[in-house]
Amino acid sequence: MERLQKFMAECGVCSRRKAEEYIKEGKVTVNGVVVTEMGTKVGEGDVVRFSGRVINKEEKKVYILMNKPEGCVTAVTDDRGRKTVVDLVKGVNERIYPVGRLDYNTSGLLILTNDGDVANKLTHPKNKIDKVYEARIKRIPEPAEIFFFESDIFLDGRKTAPAKLEIITEEPPVVNVTIHEGRNRQVRRMLEEIDNKVISLKRVKIGSLSLGSLKKGKYREMMEEEVNYLKNL
Ligand code: URA
Repeated sequence: MERLQKFMAECGVCSRRKAEEYIKEGKVTVNGVVVTEMGTKVGEGDVVRFSGRVINKEEKKVYILMNKPEGCVTAVTDDRGRKTVVDLVKGVNERIYPVGRLDYNTSGLLILTNDGDVANKLTHPKNKIDKVYEARIKRIPEPAEIFFFESDIFLDGRKTAPAKLEIITEEPPVVNVTIHEGRNRQVRRMLEEIDNKVISLKRVKIGSLSLGSLKKGKYREMMEEEVNYLKNL
């Protein structure tokens, strides 16, 4: 059980203080009855309405941008008991989940949300959202290898969509790879196809969202512009 104004704030309706005003004004009902006392508590099974509309915690949408560290799985739970990206997020009560997947040993930009529409938009192949991966690799590829990499790689008997490979530094050999598909271990396997090898892999961009200076294992709520970008995809 929790206080009605706290419940309203957690549903994303308004601040606690504003909720107190709404309660006093008789705009809130619990199980069909107008409630104006501040001490009211609500729990599971209670139906709360604000201005006639049912509110619940699922309604508050949460958008988190994480720098996933290596050594954790991109999942909500893991049947092998390994740490998951959701385990890293503290103090969020909504049932968030990661959008798309990064390998156990890949780090970088990961979005977690409870907004199914946004998750679908981000992962639907028809939207062709570019993802940029910074890869530390074994050696800098030759121009002909880059040409082949960008246009002619087959994985599992199926051609990959056009990709981009950009050299960032020669020593150590670091490249940025841009792809919009999300096939299993795609960047690692594509680089193996040109006789190269990924030493470490970090996703730095998804569409126009950037990892920025967020440290490994850290996360933050997205800014309004970022959320709007996702909703308008
Ligand atoms: N490509 C990979 O090989 N691994 C990832 O985690 C993401 C893209």
